[in-house]
Amino acid sequence: MPGLVERYRDRLPFADDDPVVTLGEGSTPLVHAPTVSERVGAEVYLKIEGANPTGSFKDRGMTCAVSAAVREGAEAVICASTGNTAASAAAYAAKAGLTGAVIVPEGKIATGKLAQALMHGARVIALRGNFDEALRLVRELVDRHPIALVNSVNPFRLEGQKTAAFELLDDLDQLDLLCIPVGNAGNVTAYWKGFREAGASPRLFGFQAEGAAPLVHGRRVENPETVASAIRIGNPARWEEAMAAMTESRGEIRAVSDDEILDAYRLLAAREGVFCEPASASSVAGLLKYGADGAERVACVLTGHGLKDPQTALEQAYAVVPCEPSIAAVERAVLG
Ligand code: F0G
Repeated sequence: MPGLVERYRDRLPFADDDPVVTLGEGSTPLVHAPTVSERVGAEVYLKIEGANPTGSFKDRGMTCAVSAAVREGAEAVICASTGNTAASAAAYAAKAGLTGAVIVPEGKIATGKLAQALMHGARVIALRGNFDEALRLVRELVDRHPIALVNSVNPFRLEGQKTAAFELLDDLDQLDLLCIPVGNAGNVTAYWKGFREAGASPRLFGFQAEGAAPLVHGRRVENPETVASAIRIGNPARWEEAMAAMTESRGEIRAVSDDEILDAYRLLAAREGVFCEPASASSVAGLLKYGADGAERVACVLTGHGLKDPQTALEQAYAVVPCEPSIAAVERAVLG
C-alpha cells in the first residue's frame, strides 16, 4: 500500500522529487456499524484510524510534517503531546534518522503511547504540568533553537490529515455528517479543509469531554480532566479554525461525559468488534447522545487504537476466569 503522500501527491505540497518519510499510513478501513446505525436511525460508518502504522490518525500528519522537516534540513523534531503525537513523531523521526523529543504531561498518558515513544528512541520528557503548558513551552523552545515543531500548529500536519476526508469521499458516494473527537482541534480543522478542497460540505459534529470542553463553553479550562486522556486539553491551538469549520458546515461542538464515552467505548468493542481508545469513542458517544439530526449517512472518526490504553480497557472489561488444569474445571469455566 503506498503512503498517503504518494496516493494524494497532486493535492499535497510535495513535488515528485521531494524526500518522503513514510510508514505506509492512510488508506484506513471504513467499517459499517449496524448496532450504532440502528440506535441512531442512520447509516453509520466507522473510520478506523487506529489502523495507521503507529495506531492513530497522527501518522497522516506526521508523514507530511517530518518529510517537510527533512526537506528543510532539520536534524531534530519536537512536540508536546497527550501521547499519540509523541508516538507518531518518535516513529517518523526514527525512520528519518532524526533526533526526536516529546514533552508529555507526567503520569497522564496511556501506557502504550509511552512505550512507543520510548521504543522509537525519542527523548521523553515528563512535564509536571498539563498538555496546554507543554505546548506553550515547546513553542517557546523552537523560537530559540533550530528544532522542527511537529504539533498540529505546523501546517503540514493539517495537509496530511485532510487526506482522511478525501478517503471518506472516495469510499462513500454520499456523506451527510461527520462525527469527530476534538482536543487541540487540529484534526477537525484538517477534515474541513479536505472536504472543502474536494468540494464537499458534510455537517461536522465535534465532541469534547465534559471536563475538557473549552470550545463548548467558549472559555479556556485551566485544569481539564477526563478519562479520555488524549483529549485532556483546555486551550486548543486551533480554536478559531475549528469554530469557523463548525459555522461553515452548520455543525455543532458539544460535550459528552466520561460515562457516555466509556459506554460507547464498550459498545464499539463488544458489539461492533472495533477496539478504539476512549477519546476516539467520544465521536460515537456524541452521535448516540445527540442523534444524527436528520442525516442519512454518517461517518464517525475513531482516532486511535484501543491497545494504546490497556489500563482503561482492563478497568472497563469483565474479569478473567481463573481455572485449574482439569477437564471438569475447564468445562465449568467455559460453559459457565
Ligand atoms: N483522538 C485521539 C486518539 C487523539 O490522540 C487526539 C489528539 C484527538 C482525538 C484530538 O485531535 O487534537 O486534533 O483535536 N491527540 C493529541 C496528541 C493532542 O498529543 O496526541 P485534535
